[in-house]
Amino acid sequence: MFDKIVVFFMTGTGNSYQVAAWFVEEAAALGIETQVQQIKVTKLSIEPNRRTLCVFTFPTHGFTAPWLLLKQILYLPRGKGTAAVVLPSRAGTRIKGISLPGMEGTAGYLTACLLFLKGYRVKGVIGVDMPSNWTAVHWGLNKENKEFIISAAEPKVKHFAKVILNGQKSFHGIVPLALGLWLAPISVMYLILGQLILSKLFFASDKCIGCQQCADLCPKQAILMVGAKRKRPYWTYSCDSCMACMNYCPYEAVEVSPIIGIIFYFIGTIPISTYILNHFVTLPFSWLPINWDGIIQYIYVLSSVFLAYLLLHAALGWRFFCIIFSKLTHTRYFRRYHAPNVSVKNLNQRSIIDD
Ligand SMILES: Cc1cc2nc3c(=O)[nH]c(=O)nc-3n(C[C@H](O)[C@H](O)[C@H](O)COP(=O)(O)O)c2cc1C
Repeated sequence: MFDKIVVFFMTGTGNSYQVAAWFVEEAAALGIETQVQQIKVTKLSIEPNRRTLCVFTFPTHGFTAPWLLLKQILYLPRGKGTAAVVLPSRAGTRIKGISLPGMEGTAGYLTACLLFLKGYRVKGVIGVDMPSNWTAVHWGLNKENKEFIISAAEPKVKHFAKVILNGQKSFHGIVPLALGLWLAPISVMYLILGQLILSKLFFASDKCIGCQQCADLCPKQAILMVGAKRKRPYWTYSCDSCMACMNYCPYEAVEVSPIIGIIFYFIGTIPISTYILNHFVTLPFSWLPINWDGIIQYIYVLSSVFLAYLLLHAALGWRFFCIIFSKLTHTRYFRRYHAPNVSVKNLNQRSIIDD
């Protein structure tokens, strides 16, 4: 049915890499040539061909697909009938023996829709529960729960792969799609504001030795190493909160601080827009049906958070302050998570099947 499979994976903590690896295993078992590309900031390459199948797997963020994935799909060459399948991974959890599924919302079908518009023939969509990786808000799952969720995901992905490689179609996740459409305002807010603020909650604790692994691993190259004497990571607005930095740091030195969140909340909620509009600005286009108040507030929030983070980063260069600040984070006491069989080495190389 297919002569070649091209697997594109975006991953923070290795879950979607693992999903990609399972798909590759099924294709390799059938003797189909496979190629793997990690979705980072460099453009993806694909030669459109009706006998090629493209596989897209990536994490769900904010009930939809992450920016990086959406952007890379928009930059893909025209599909000219190339087949494609979409497998968003999502946050599976297990509490006291009860498994709870994640919710991919619009992640799968939005991606499928964009692929269709680019001329790809979408053959299937399926959400895959992998252990939740959002260790900024909860501790990483324990070994037993991780293994349980992963062992349930593997046959599901392999079965889906078999069906698709046999030339059939397989569409799942209509209920999550309906919920995702209902929650679309949250997804939009997440994409335009939420993830920008989340990126500024990360900082390097006193345990950081400036090894730069976080910056090297970041799929968006969103982490800069700055500092004259001692280089320390600085999170820019490009960060997609994929959690790679936090969960693969060998020193567990990447933290998220609720104190930063509280500071941002206070400076962000000052009704600055109304003040500026009332006192200083006579807008030339005020007759246009545009929410000027909202736009000014948005610009204000982003610039004030940027400045506050800059100051905080400078202050964290003072070791004593950094130690105290780090001890006040909740994440210092959280277990980290990354997919058990996916190492930093796996993510820095291109091939899955050679591992
Ligand atoms: C910022 C952020 C937002 C997330 N949002 C969702 C979500 O809306 N629904 C969901 O099921 N999982 C959500 N997750 C969980 C991840 O999608 C899930 O753990 C995924 O398997 C991670 O894949 P990766 O290791 O390949 O990055 C979120 C994770 C993060 C870090």
